[in-house]
This record gives sequence, C-alpha cells and structure tokens, in this order.
Amino acid sequence: MAILVTGGAGYIGSHTCVELLNQGYDIVVVDNYSNSKPAALERVKKLTGKDFPAYTVDLLDRDGLSRVFAENQIDAVIHFAGLKAVGESVTIPLRYYHNNITGTLVLCDLMDEYGVKKMAFSSSATVYGLPERVPVVEDFTLDAINPYGATKVFIERILTDWQVSQPDISVALLRYCNPVGGHPSALLGEEPSGIPNNLTPYIARVASGKFEKLTVNGDDYPTPDGTCIRDYVHVMDLAAGHVSALKWLDSHTGTEAFNLGTGKGYSVLEVLRAFEKAVDRELPYVIGPRRPGNADSPEFYADTTKAREQLGFVAQYGIDEMCRDTWAFVRENPNGI
Ligand code: WQD
Repeated sequence: MAILVTGGAGYIGSHTCVELLNQGYDIVVVDNYSNSKPAALERVKKLTGKDFPAYTVDLLDRDGLSRVFAENQIDAVIHFAGLKAVGESVTIPLRYYHNNITGTLVLCDLMDEYGVKKMAFSSSATVYGLPERVPVVEDFTLDAINPYGATKVFIERILTDWQVSQPDISVALLRYCNPVGGHPSALLGEEPSGIPNNLTPYIARVASGKFEKLTVNGDDYPTPDGTCIRDYVHVMDLAAGHVSALKWLDSHTGTEAFNLGTGKGYSVLEVLRAFEKAVDRELPYVIGPRRPGNADSPEFYADTTKAREQLGFVAQYGIDEMCRDTWAFVRENPNGI
C-alpha cells in the first residue's frame, strides 16, 4: 500500500517525500510541474536511496489521475498540489479557484471510486485572515483576505462535508504558518519562480547578490521594533508533521484541523539579523511602505497545543537553523535545482 503525494515535487511536498521514504512508506507522486521540477524527485531518490513511481499528471485530468489510482494500491493521500502565490491569486482568481478547488474535487471523486479513505490536506494559516488576537487557535473563525487563502477555506469546507457524508473517511487539515528553510543536505529547498514575494527567499537572494537590498514593508506597526511578526516554521518540521498526521489518520475518523508552527513569532528585522548570522555579514535593507491593501497582520503566530497533544508535533528547528538551511540551499544551488 502506498501514499499518494500530489504536488510531491514541490517545496514542502519533496521534503515530505524524503521523510515518508525514510520512515519506510511507499509513495507515488503526481505533479504537473507548473511550479516545480522533476529534478527535485531525482534528489529525493538520491537522498533516500529509494525509488518510487512519479506521474506527470494535472489533477484536472481525471483520466490521467484515474490511471494512477488504477495502477497503484493507494492507502492514503497527502494533497499538496495547488497554486499558492498570494499576490498572483489576486490577479487571476478564477484560475486559482478552478485549479485548486476543481482539482481537489476530482481527487476526492477518485478516492471515492477507489475506496481511499484517508487524506492529509496542505492548508494554510492564511485561512485565519487578519486575526483579532494571537496566538491563533484552530476554532477561530476563518476569514481569508485573498483568493489563495479563500481556496484553502473553501477546500477545508468541501473536505469537511465530504467526510460527514462518509463517516469512515478521515481528514487532517494542516494549517502551516510560514514555511522556511531546506533540507540539511542543501539538495532541496524553496525555489520561488520570479521575484520572491516571501521574506526569507528574498533575503537569501540579497545575500547571494541577485538583489541589491531588502525592502522592509513598513516599520510603523504596533510591535516592539515596528516590523511585522510571523511564526516561521522549518520545512523539515513540516515534513515530520505530515508523517505524524498520516499516523493520526490511521487511528481516527472525522475531520480535524491542526496548526503546524513553532508557537513563537519573529519580526522582519529579527529574521534579517538571524540571516546575517547565517551569512556572517550585514545585509543591506531599507524601510519601505506597508504592503498595499492592508494585507499584513502586525503579529501572527499559532497556538500549537492541539498538534502537540494529538499529533505529537513539536517543532525542532529554530530561526537560526531556518536561515542557515535557506542560505545553504541558495548558496549551493545558485541556478536552482
Ligand atoms: C512575512 C513578513 C511582509 C517580503 C505568506 C503567504 C502564504 C503563507 C504564509 C502558505 C510580512 C514582510 C516580506 C519582503 C518584507 N504560506 N516582507 N519584505 O505574508 O506572512 O504569508 O506565507 O500558505 O504564502 O500568506 O509571508 O514571507 O510574504 O511576509 O518586509 O520583501 O515579511 O510584509 O510582514 P506572509 P511573507
């Protein structure tokens, strides 16, 4: 029996594949490579010494995806595949809704057809929108503030209703905080296409000389140093969290959401300082205006009690390792994977 990993060549998907293989699972990967490369899977094989089938399939291709289920004994699904750029989602919302939601509906329909009853879904802390207070808890009201986050809210609702209709199904909704870092080998890491919107990939490319300086999006927020605070979580911790969720699915039915974070927040300037420690030099930055559209919570970090108590999830890596591993990947792969 194998674990089907949709989007398994992606950033969090590839790191999760390494963890699954290292823990003795068989996996099958499907990916359309719209925001990833087959080379990432070659590196997964190199890191683990294990082989696995990989299909170039878009979830919207029902026949193609059906063949994957027909040709493999799938026990559970970890569903990463989806478009995930917040800014892009504002400019092409219909593509985000169709790709992410319809793709999930096709996947669930085939899981029904082939009797697959367990799913871990790659959700996001963006489902909380701009929370009224922190730390965020799983029973907070969901309130996405962009189409990307809205697809996650809608998909969580779809999966919840799907599970209610079939009580023997189990669903884990994994709400990541800010994923950061790469594999300690520096063979896997985050490769955003184009100019990175997110903080740490951008800082890494300032350190590599690709960009001249970091622009801090505002330092007039109600925080100790005026810059926004976020709960950054190492991708290796997230990978381990997915395997823990898989074990939870084996012994539970129903639908449960889990915050996967560290429970600790760091400001933009604190992250910059941590990155300077990783590269052992100062990095140039300027203070710019706040992001347009009031899209930034001043402070966001998660309560991870539920993930700790029910999944045994406790983040092992701190901000220094996150910056160290982010930098190592960019330094060792200046032209990407
Ligand atoms: C962090 C802070 C920026 C870049 C994102 C997305 C989503 C989700 C979590 C998965 C903010 C500031 C950034 C820069 C800056 N991931 N910043 N200069 O916006 O918290 O959330 O990650 O679902 O992808 O919602 O992360 O890294 O973009 O920004 O000052 O060049 O860094 O304003 O305060 P964010 P981020």
